[in-house]
Amino acid sequence: MRAPSLFFLAVLLVHISLQCNATTNCQLGSEKTTNLHFYLHDTLSGNDPSAVPVAHGDKFTANPGNPVPFSSVVVTDDVLTEGPDRQSKVVGNAQGLYVSSGKREFSLVLGIDFELTDGPFNGSSFVVFSRNPVLQGNGRELSIVGGRGAFRMARGYALLKTHYLDTGNGDAIIEYNVTLLHY
Ligand SMILES: *[C@@H]1O[C@H](CO)[C@@H](O)[C@H](O)[C@H]1NC(C)=O
Ligand SMILES: *[C@@H]1O[C@H](CO)[C@@H](O)[C@H](O)[C@H]1NC(C)=O
Repeated sequence: MRAPSLFFLAVLLVHISLQCNATTNCQLGSEKTTNLHFYLHDTLSGNDPSAVPVAHGDKFTANPGNPVPFSSVVVTDDVLTEGPDRQSKVVGNAQGLYVSSGKREFSLVLGIDFELTDGPFNGSSFVVFSRNPVLQGNGRELSIVGGRGAFRMARGYALLKTHYLDTGNGDAIIEYNVTLLHY
């Protein structure tokens, strides 16, 4: 077989570079920005918790003032609702885990898949893998590193506000303001 001529390759490269630029991907179409807003209910207490500590190092045991000490691993299936009230419309769930990763200052690292179960993105999910510097307060930022369905190849960020926190048992309601770039 003859090698393809340089001319042919050059024409092909020009063709590709004309069709694909920063906002238009050859196979995926144009990039869109989507904003999502919801509340996450992370409930460690009670008979039916949505967040369950499954492990921690020998030296760091949970106690009432410190429910997720350094080295704790917590598995979640947290409910996402439209408003801060747990009885408001359920819009999705957040499945994954977080680890208590701050030795000097309380901080978490999250690896969680947020799937929507309502609205135009029903069945699609985005994935957070990020440090969550809880003590930095409102406006702290998580990175979004991918997604499924409508959010395939997504990237973006979430800005968090603590709506409610019980420092005794760890129960929290967190407001998420998500900005996603996807195709
Ligand atoms: C979301 O999608 C699931 C699976 O296709 C379907 O069963 C459910 O009714 C949908 N929910 C809404 C609110 O559209
Ligand atoms: C969400 O964050 C964006 C910036 O990323 C901001 O413009 C918008 O006002 C915020 N929305 C809410 C409800 O906080």
